[in-house]
Amino acid sequence: MASTDTLPPLPAADRKAPFAGDPIAFVGSFPDPRTRLDPPRPEIAFIGRSNVGKSSLLNALTGRKGLARVSATPGKTQAMNVFRLPACYLVDLPGYGFAKAGKAARAAYRKLVERCLHERPHLTGVVWLLDIRHPPSDDDLDFQALLVASGRPVLVVLTKADKLGRSAVRTRTRELAHALGLGEEDVQPVSSETRLGIAELGAAITAAVRGAEAS
Ligand code: GTP
Ligand code: MG
Repeated sequence: MASTDTLPPLPAADRKAPFAGDPIAFVGSFPDPRTRLDPPRPEIAFIGRSNVGKSSLLNALTGRKGLARVSATPGKTQAMNVFRLPACYLVDLPGYGFAKAGKAARAAYRKLVERCLHERPHLTGVVWLLDIRHPPSDDDLDFQALLVASGRPVLVVLTKADKLGRSAVRTRTRELAHALGLGEEDVQPVSSETRLGIAELGAAITAAVRGAEAS
C-alpha cells in the first residue's frame, strides 16, 4: 500500500535532467590536483563522504546512466574524474571517510581534495553532499572546515531523500542545516532516484557557472 507520506511525482519538466541536452565527454581521471583542463572553463566539483551518492548525482544531472561509475562498494573514485560540458567541467572527487581505506590512503584523499580546493583557479563552485539520514560525521565537519577555509562557493545537498517520507525530509533538512550552522534555505534535499531537487541543483550550478563567466 502506498504511504500517504510518499512524495508525489514531479511534473515532467522537472524530471528532465538539467544537462540532458548537452553533449558530454569524459575527459579523464587525474590523480594530480594541479592538472590543467583545456580549454579552461568554470569547474564544479562534487565532494562528499564515500558512498554518499556523488556519482549517482552526476548521472542524474546529466541524464546519463553509468556516466560516472556508481558503486555499492565505497571508495571507487580515487582520482578527479572530469566531465566536459559546453559551459563547464563537472569534477567527481574521491569520497572521504572510507574506513577500510587505511590511514595513508585517507590522508591522501584529504590532501587531493584540499589541494583541488586551493589550487584550481577555475573552481567556481563545490557541491557538497551529505546523507540526509545521518547527522554530519567528524569527517563531514572536518571537510566543512576545509570548504569554509577555501572560500569557494558551496552548494549543500542532502542525498537519498527518497529513503525518507516527506515530513521526515523536512525535519531532517532543518536538523542538518542547524547542525551545520546554516539556514534551512541553504541546504537542498535531493534524490537521484526520484529526481527530487535535481532541477533546482541544476539551476544553481548554471547560475554559478554564468556568474563565473560574467566576472
Ligand atoms: P564513491 O565514489 O565510492 O565515493 O561513492 P559515491 O558517493 O559516488 O556514491 P554512488 O553514487 O556510487 O552511490 C553509492 C550507493 O548509494 C549506490 O548503491 C547507489 O545506488 C546509492 N544511491 C546513490 N544515490 C541514491 C539516491 O538518491 N537514492 C537511493 N535510494 N540510493 C542512492
Ligand atoms: Mg563515485
